[in-house]
Amino acid sequence: MTTAIAHPNIALVKYWGKVPGADNIPASPSLSITLDTLRTHTRIETSNEDLVIINGKPVDDPKISKFLMRLRQVHTIPPLTIDTDNNFPTGAGLASSASGFAALITAINSHCQLGLSHEDCSTWARRGSGSAARSLCGGFSTLTEPLWHAQTLLDPGMWPLHVVIAITDTSVKSVSSTAGMERSRLTSPFYDAWLASTRIAYERARTAVLARDFNGLATIAEASALNMHAVMLSSQPPLMYWNSGTMAAIQRITGLREQGLAVFFTIDAGPQIKAVCLPEASVTVERALRETPGILGVTTAGLGQAARVIHA
Ligand code: DP6
Repeated sequence: MTTAIAHPNIALVKYWGKVPGADNIPASPSLSITLDTLRTHTRIETSNEDLVIINGKPVDDPKISKFLMRLRQVHTIPPLTIDTDNNFPTGAGLASSASGFAALITAINSHCQLGLSHEDCSTWARRGSGSAARSLCGGFSTLTEPLWHAQTLLDPGMWPLHVVIAITDTSVKSVSSTAGMERSRLTSPFYDAWLASTRIAYERARTAVLARDFNGLATIAEASALNMHAVMLSSQPPLMYWNSGTMAAIQRITGLREQGLAVFFTIDAGPQIKAVCLPEASVTVERALRETPGILGVTTAGLGQAARVIHA
């Protein structure tokens, strides 16, 4: 039996849109932070037939089946029992597919002795889910052309930011990221402008991270999240991922920053809010979000390590 662990990552410059065709190539670069306290734990065992168990329940997951089918076109992989669990809500906009595919390829690579390099694992993780490539890295990571495998920009200790995650709804989202971004590509009048602005945001965010420029990063990251949601809202039919708790949290975080606290928000394809802050601000941010109407729960993470095998 082989066990691997991977953490979800939160994009500060978002990926929302693919190059049409195979291989799951993003249409624009992205930059993210990997979290530490949230994690996916995946155990793999050779068995008589494939069995996928997520959070204790056997499932038929088309994304995982497709991923295994592609992997088997290139590598010899026996039937496997894949038993995976998340210590956070699954499919609710908290990047469970990112940590899921990062843990899966890490575990399979070790268990089946595929001998894949870090770059190869990143490419396979990306084929499973674009954002998963970034969970192969710890700290700050980037996913960009021409090779589209993720690279570490800063290790976690080099700029140890905190992320306060405010949960506003634990249900599984109604439209997946894969379906949502295809809808945006086909229908949003803002899609091309979104891609062009993201290329610029990516370069600026990279510079801000390397310079540890918190305020610069805050402006770029909030604009990236809001621009992505503008593209979502302008898709047909519209993609509305926010609820009233999301909006209340945005207003609270904006107010805290106006008072001089080092914090900014980001939101993915779901209603949860992530408040990124300097470590000294996180207790105040956590307290403020706990008191905000519509917030069901709050948890704080630091920056996490890369995906890894913990038992082989
Ligand atoms: C909003 O990586 O889940 O979280 O490649 O289709 O699996 P697929 O999409 P996925 O999309 C992530 C979207 C996002 C932004 C981001 O993480 O960059």
